[in-house]
Amino acid sequence: MPRISYVNGRYIRHRQAAVHIEDRGYQFADAVYEVITVVRGRLVDDEPHFERLERSLREIRIEMPFSRAVFRLKIAELLRLNRLDTASLYLQVSRGVAPRNHQIPGPMTPSVVMTVKPFAAPSQKIVDEGVAVITLPDNRWKRPDIKSVALLPNVLAKDDAVRQNVYEAWLVDAEGMVTEGTSTNAWIVTGGKLVTHPAQHAILNGVTRLALLKIASDIGVALEERPFSVSEAKTADEAFLSSTSAFLVPIVRIDDRKIGEGLPGPVSTALLARYREHLWSEHA
Ligand code: PDD
Repeated sequence: MPRISYVNGRYIRHRQAAVHIEDRGYQFADAVYEVITVVRGRLVDDEPHFERLERSLREIRIEMPFSRAVFRLKIAELLRLNRLDTASLYLQVSRGVAPRNHQIPGPMTPSVVMTVKPFAAPSQKIVDEGVAVITLPDNRWKRPDIKSVALLPNVLAKDDAVRQNVYEAWLVDAEGMVTEGTSTNAWIVTGGKLVTHPAQHAILNGVTRLALLKIASDIGVALEERPFSVSEAKTADEAFLSSTSAFLVPIVRIDDRKIGEGLPGPVSTALLARYREHLWSEHA
């Protein structure tokens, strides 16, 4: 069965799926995206994902190409054609195709592409043993709250992490504060409190982050949305990262420093257990 992708209203073989070379997403990174997990045909946390998509589009002055309801129908058809019900969905909207010119050439028809692939959650080994991260300067533009496809600094930082044999790189601002990872949000547990960077312009407000904040308050974990420094993180009791694709992955080493006992801690473990319930429960 061939893999099928969605390009501008058509469902076509993945190998042939393409946009024009003068698509502004390709030439200017003039595009935004979402990654949504699909569990048994249900889009996990679809409302906050669509809210963020609409916000990202608004911030870069692109109209939502069609309603959430139409997106849902198109996604259901794409899943059906790929015979997938548990999947990872990638959705991208660019400003569209026009002769290359920095100036936006008036109202345009956005390009919409969507792909689905089988969902691969992090392995049990990763969850049981935790992972290491390195810290690197955050040299992205000042609006990473917009989920733009301009990800070159993220890609290069992730490449540094891979070359150093670690799972992720935590990005550090000019004041020495950890903002987030290359494709994940960053968390620590210190002084009995769960701490994560506030969602202003400096980070992407992760949908998983929002779900975890709610879970934390539901189960009575004290919370602080505030920046934390690399040195505070290195002496924290626990650390972890979160994203749609990784869920929650415990961190047991930051640079050369072991975190806590060097094993996933109780708060991380409790939050992950509740997050897994959240993934499945919305089915009931
Ligand atoms: N990454 N921070 C950044 C920079 C991200 O790219 C992501 C998501 C997150 C976590 O957001 P969420 O919980 O909504 O997935 C934080 C996606 C998964 C990606 O680029 O593949």
